[in-house]
Amino acid sequence: MDPRPTRRTVLRALGGLGALAVLGACSSSDDGSAPPTTTGTTGPGSTRPAIVPAAPPALEREVRDLRLRITAAPAKAEIFAGLSSDVWSYSAEVLDGDPASVVDSGSYLGPTLHLRQGQRVRVRFENKLKQPSIVHWHGLVVPQGQDGQPHEAVGPGQTYDYDFVVSNPPGTYWYHPHPHGSTGEQVYRGLAGMIVVHGDEPALPSGANDLGVVLQDRTVNPDGTLVYVRQRMDQMMGFVGTTLVTNGVADCTIAVRREPYRLRLLNGANSRTQQLQWSTDAPFHVVATDGHLLPDAVRTSSLVLTPAQRSDVWMDFSGHAPGTTVQLLAGDLFVETESLMGGGMGQGGMGGMGGMGGMGSGGTGAPTFDPQVAVTFVVVDSAAKPGTAPTKLGPVPTVSPAVNASQPKQFVLSTRQGAHWINNQQWDDRKVTELETVGVNTTELWEFVNQSPMPHPMHLHGSAFRVVSRSWDVDALAATWATIEPGIIETGLRDTVMVWPGQRVRLAVPFGEHEGYFLYHCHVLEHEDAGMMRSFRAVRR
Ligand code: C2O
Ligand code: CU
Ligand code: CU
Repeated sequence: MDPRPTRRTVLRALGGLGALAVLGACSSSDDGSAPPTTTGTTGPGSTRPAIVPAAPPALEREVRDLRLRITAAPAKAEIFAGLSSDVWSYSAEVLDGDPASVVDSGSYLGPTLHLRQGQRVRVRFENKLKQPSIVHWHGLVVPQGQDGQPHEAVGPGQTYDYDFVVSNPPGTYWYHPHPHGSTGEQVYRGLAGMIVVHGDEPALPSGANDLGVVLQDRTVNPDGTLVYVRQRMDQMMGFVGTTLVTNGVADCTIAVRREPYRLRLLNGANSRTQQLQWSTDAPFHVVATDGHLLPDAVRTSSLVLTPAQRSDVWMDFSGHAPGTTVQLLAGDLFVETESLMGGGMGQGGMGGMGGMGGMGSGGTGAPTFDPQVAVTFVVVDSAAKPGTAPTKLGPVPTVSPAVNASQPKQFVLSTRQGAHWINNQQWDDRKVTELETVGVNTTELWEFVNQSPMPHPMHLHGSAFRVVSRSWDVDALAATWATIEPGIIETGLRDTVMVWPGQRVRLAVPFGEHEGYFLYHCHVLEHEDAGMMRSFRAVRR
């Protein structure tokens, strides 16, 4: 077996890329590309036609309380056409409330949960796996006990009851497991689903023109079994699959009418940062990031999504002739910096790693963008109904002044002894330092300083933040960054932020009203599982 993640583009110091309905229902089709294997063997490749996303179930006018049962259990799924894979999957059932709240994904992904702003949601989670698990509602601001943290993980056969009110603005969120040490494996085996929060929003394409697009990657053996972390390097670097799997299937094909769409893009990959482009070179019109509308739509020719980030984009297919295809292309954006390897930064060395051989160390290479097809949109025969690209959207995000405006709290990310660290610490359940203690209803400046040789997408629970500034300690990658930066949309609020090697990223974090312990961590799930996660505590002062 090839021990290395394939198709991972390593950018050197020189440059880079120059339903409501359902998830957009996908089908897998054989375009002649070999189903991925770890051995290079070609798997079966039957053809599934493009699927027209079903008309969305209409939500009730009145917002009623919702009671759900969500189960995590082993299942089978056809990720690659004609090939059955063992997966772990969420299923959900409405026990009480609007039956349209749960929409099946048609794949291993959990159903999309359609929640309403202000709605009381009660969930009984049932763990039918053979290992502990717990569900986290990524991006939703809920009290500590409702947040689905490792501390709350329940064993096989056990249940966990949630009861919270949806306080977030309308937008795109997701849910996934969060047990310590096995989040990466559980997400990889299939446990993840999209959450759409509904409420008052500006006019954007809706109903059947509102599609979820969940971007992931997988490696499978010829018999369909999923391949996960096989060796230490996979854990260190983050696991990258050989093939893009979108909305739960490889070769995802979605039929669209000649109309504008809202595409809710979610990077649900364990580790791969996606650099997206349209095959037609059309721009992305980004309308929302991480669940929050942008003040103004942002037009960009490439779009970067770290693991866990979402961007809602507006896309008009009206100008395309019936039968044509438009492809969403995704490259694996990854950098490593030699200048931060081998102890050059004191604590930044890769001690115990045996170097980073195999990931392209040595020499400088030309910038590479080597994308794969994430989705093929097939334009069907329909009347062309061109739309107008959105402009003004949400309010300009205001965050109250930081209490530590002159003295940001620093969180140094480093890599040594074969592990990743935050201020020289790792996961220690609910032990927090003074630095990790914050006031409720208080804004603080937090600065992530990346002294490790690779990027870390940092995520905070319990709030959405504003990116205030970025600067470089080591500017080896500054030129590369400049080529990628236009695809990094940070004019609104985010809950996950990319921190490049050598970079300092300063955030204004408005901590909310909930007291207690919350998490911050790297959303490369292999890094998180290896301990690159800490608690912080919100206290009433
Ligand atoms: Cu998406 Cu703490 O997680
Ligand atoms: Cu989260
Ligand atoms: Cu990381």
